[in-house]
Amino acid sequence: MRTLPPFPASRPRRLRRDAFTRALVRENRLAPEDFILPVFVLEGTKQVQDVPSMPGVQRMSQDMLFGVAEQCVELGIPVLALFPNIDASLKTPDGREATNPDGLIPRTVRALKERFPELGVMTDVALDPYTSHGQDGVLDETGYIINDVTVEVLTAQALTHAAAGVDIVAPSDMMDGRIGAIRSALEAGGHIHTRIMAYSAKYASAFYGPFRDAVGTRGTLGKSDKKVYQMDPGNSNEALREVALDIAEGADMVMVKPGLPYLDIVRRVKDEFGMPTFAYQVSGEYAMIKAAAANGWLDHDAVMMEALLAFKRAGADGILTYFALDAARLLRQR
Ligand code: PBG
Repeated sequence: MRTLPPFPASRPRRLRRDAFTRALVRENRLAPEDFILPVFVLEGTKQVQDVPSMPGVQRMSQDMLFGVAEQCVELGIPVLALFPNIDASLKTPDGREATNPDGLIPRTVRALKERFPELGVMTDVALDPYTSHGQDGVLDETGYIINDVTVEVLTAQALTHAAAGVDIVAPSDMMDGRIGAIRSALEAGGHIHTRIMAYSAKYASAFYGPFRDAVGTRGTLGKSDKKVYQMDPGNSNEALREVALDIAEGADMVMVKPGLPYLDIVRRVKDEFGMPTFAYQVSGEYAMIKAAAANGWLDHDAVMMEALLAFKRAGADGILTYFALDAARLLRQR
């Protein structure tokens, strides 16, 4: 008589057999509340411009942005992140337009907070949209970005945004000591509720290309890169040191950027510090999915949701993503 082989004691496929058990034991989920939508703001009224390298993304004037803000509120997306496309005539070597209290960003913040008080508004603190050379800081005569002088300008910029009523400032410049400087200035200025989301581990990445089209810095930056201040893609321990500094200096939330290629960093940061941890699915990640989907090589919605879910699995509390509206709509339909 032939004896049957022993049955496995455990059959992991049992739980995968039906949609209801798959749902029951799913460890991570997406919700519209996980998303922050980055948007590109222009001067003027009734202005809408496509960004060719980011299909579906548009730069728009403040009045057009209200429609987007309304959709965020309806869909339950908690925060809009503003990035300016500054007129070339306002760009200078020192980026001083960044501290103009009546500049494009402070005006947009005021208008949004007035109409949509329940919608969180976040602003980028960095000089690249405002400098004639496209770098995030002020240069010395050799072209090196001077840290401490830049931090002074960034601090003034953050105060300008806080005075306009922004909820969250997000320094994306990677200067040393900027979180501490901004935090003390906010406290001294009575802006005790202004939250800081620090771009703590921001890498010198080639995935930012389409964003630089959107804010109009691809041309000004030319062939130069940001390797003398953004992190080297080969480094992991350094990310933990950067995050530790930002927490010590007063960051409320920390961020890793780019996203998908750096999920190992997201996981390490979350495990090490347990802080509210965010990841930025950057423009190049968005463009790749859009391009492959447009060619019929990938299923747009399925890949979008899988990539976003991966951020949650890696430990992110939230994701900055250009897919926020699309993904939130899909989640609402389910
Ligand atoms: C600049 C900034 C960049 C992004 C956000 N803030 C680009 C850069 O560092 O050159 C990139 C976002 C994206 O690629 O989606 N301070």
